[in-house]
Amino acid sequence: MLNFNYQNPTRILFGKNQIKNINKHIPTGSKVLITYGGGSIKKNGILDAVKAALAGYDLSEFGGIEPNPSYETLMKCVKQIHDSKVDFILAVGGGSVIDGTKFIAAAVPYEADPSEILSTFGYKIKTALPFGTVLTLPATGSEMNCGSVITIKATHTKIPFSNPAVYPVFSVLDPETTYTLPPKQVSNGVIDTFVHIIEQYLTYPVNAKVQDRFAEGLLLTLIEEGPKALAEPENYDVKANLMWCATLGLNGLIGAGVPQDWATHMIGHEITALHGVDHAQTLAIVLPSLLKTQKESKKEKLLQYADRIWGITQGSDDEKIDQAIEKTEHFFHAMNIKTKLSDYGIAKESIPAIIEQLAAHGMVKLGEKKEITPDVSKQILEMSI
Ligand code: NZQ
Ligand code: ZN
Repeated sequence: MLNFNYQNPTRILFGKNQIKNINKHIPTGSKVLITYGGGSIKKNGILDAVKAALAGYDLSEFGGIEPNPSYETLMKCVKQIHDSKVDFILAVGGGSVIDGTKFIAAAVPYEADPSEILSTFGYKIKTALPFGTVLTLPATGSEMNCGSVITIKATHTKIPFSNPAVYPVFSVLDPETTYTLPPKQVSNGVIDTFVHIIEQYLTYPVNAKVQDRFAEGLLLTLIEEGPKALAEPENYDVKANLMWCATLGLNGLIGAGVPQDWATHMIGHEITALHGVDHAQTLAIVLPSLLKTQKESKKEKLLQYADRIWGITQGSDDEKIDQAIEKTEHFFHAMNIKTKLSDYGIAKESIPAIIEQLAAHGMVKLGEKKEITPDVSKQILEMSI
């Protein structure tokens, strides 16, 4: 196992009606800004529940944070906060609202131009406004990590940043808030979580048995419960298990002390930035081809994955690995997520521009062994047509 230094300060309030308890974790008398997205929380009553829980606080709102939150929109909120003092922010929504709120929280007290947060991947952030979250879409793990991904619309750039200053103070995980999710977002959430786990598990062995078995438990839960969530959108237990899976998939626990990949995510970000394909859909396009190109490099863990996740024990090593990749792709299809660029109207001619953007963003040595050069990324995308 590799050395690690792990601390996660986010309090989790899990279960039914936990929104009622948020006032116990926001200092009395605070000026609270509620941030949200395109309005789903108004239609499903979550905004009303939040406001009821915060009776007595001085409340204001900032709505309109879009999926793949943009720097341009978020800077409007930063200005709103500079014009009217705010002590605490409450993000109510999916990963985009939470990621956007992390940027806002860091940008308000930032001494230099906030665009520097993105150009330096967040490492110069010294402090941020405190914020909590009410999660309505289990997928990103943003509710219990200190990462965020922001899009600069002007340049079609999607940039991740992270800093310990932007861990949420608390996050409410009430599975009932997910009942109104459109099926596509349920699928996206399951696939995003699945790929987060894979990026931290399917690398090379370092004898980290605890992390491996945690990761395998989460993957098996997703495979078991994911399709049920599509069939029974209001099954509380199914939604509860998926919600906790998503959080544990990217709160740092399974990634501590093991090598990490993240090439699928970095290639996927460029596809979203240029073509607007949903984040999870890009991962489903990239991962199967990436695994095919990395068969040798990831051999030992691919065999472990084939055996422990898919029960594949017959055949040569090569056959077992091929079957495991095929099963993975079938699982994505069972979740109604398509796995080819052409399924999303993207042709072979679009690949060079994606590769140029990767190079422009310094994504030229990706993967746990830094072996995924632009040439390999090109091969991966060409296999995904
Ligand atoms: O905007 P509203 O109206 O709320 O609607 C949203 C949005 O249209 C809707 N939705 C959310 N909860 C709902 C709901 N609709 C009905 N009922 C509910 N309960 O779902 C749509 C998608 O929301 P979004 O927040 O964009 O989805 P997701 O949570 O998948 O977040 C995706 C973003 O997170 C980033 C991605 O790159 C992408 O920008 N990621 C962040 C990570 C992190 N911070 O650690 C890691 C991830 O790998 C990922 O990159
Ligand atoms: Zn993701």
